[in-house]
Order: sequence, then C-alpha cells, then structure tokens
Amino acid sequence: MKKILVINGPNLNMLGIREPDIYGKQDFAALEEYIRASARELSLSVSLFQSNHEGEIVDIIQSAYGLYDGIVINPAAYTHTSVAILDALKAVGIPTVEVHLSDINSREEFRKHSFVSIIAVKTICGLGFEGYRKALEYFS
Ligand code: DQA
Repeated sequence: MKKILVINGPNLNMLGIREPDIYGKQDFAALEEYIRASARELSLSVSLFQSNHEGEIVDIIQSAYGLYDGIVINPAAYTHTSVAILDALKAVGIPTVEVHLSDINSREEFRKHSFVSIIAVKTICGLGFEGYRKALEYFS
C-alpha cells in the first residue's frame, strides 16, 4: 500500500469559522475525515499533519524523506511566500500534489503566484474538499 503524507498549512484548522463564503462551512475535522475516507476507498495509507508554523512544515517534509511515496500539500498562505517549503520539497524529491480549496487564480493578484507549483507534479484548485480526493487519486 502506498504511503501518502497530507500536509495542511496555516489557518486551515479554522475551517468552518474562517471566511465560510470562500472556504465552506465544514470544519477541519470534517476535512480530515473526508481525506481518511478517500484514502481508504483508494487503498492508500495516509498520515495527516497540520501546522501554522513554516519551520514545522519544513521539518515534517524533511522527516518524510525515504518514508513516503507521495505528498499532498495545501501550504495555505505559505504557498505565496515560502521558498523554504519549496526547497524542502525539492530536497526530499517526493512527488507532490498541491491542493487549494479555493481557486487561487481568480482571487487577489498576490495569490496567483505559488512557489510550490514550481515543484508540484499537479496543482488542484477550487474544488473544495474534493480537491484532496483528486490529489490522492494521482497516487492510487
Ligand atoms: C488556500 C488559498 C491561500 O491563498 C490561502 O492563504 C489559504 C488557503 C486554499 O486552500 O484555498 O489559507 O490555500
């Protein structure tokens, strides 16, 4: 069974409370349950990680080296700022699919640039929770 690490970045733990018109009314626990259920259906083993801290996200990516077959990451706001997360993904060389709940290309100008897209094998935007399932399907 393939092992996939799913990483969610800052403020995604506030789903349901945070800008529900953009991110939906379901909370983060519901997202995690959706990801686990999708992984079960696709016969993938998943580990879930969320952090509001850039360095912790770098650490978890580094610790995935040699252990995971794929990474699914929603870097949230760090998408648009973090060379450190890009470099960590480059360092471990694990195929990575980037996910965003919202369509970052149809929002503010600053959201249109993603550092992670430079390394991602695929980027999925604007599908809400379903984007995570589509990302997992890439590895199934
Ligand atoms: C997001 C989009 C980012 O621009 C934003 O900073 C987030 C969430 C998304 O899932 O749509 O926190 O990654």
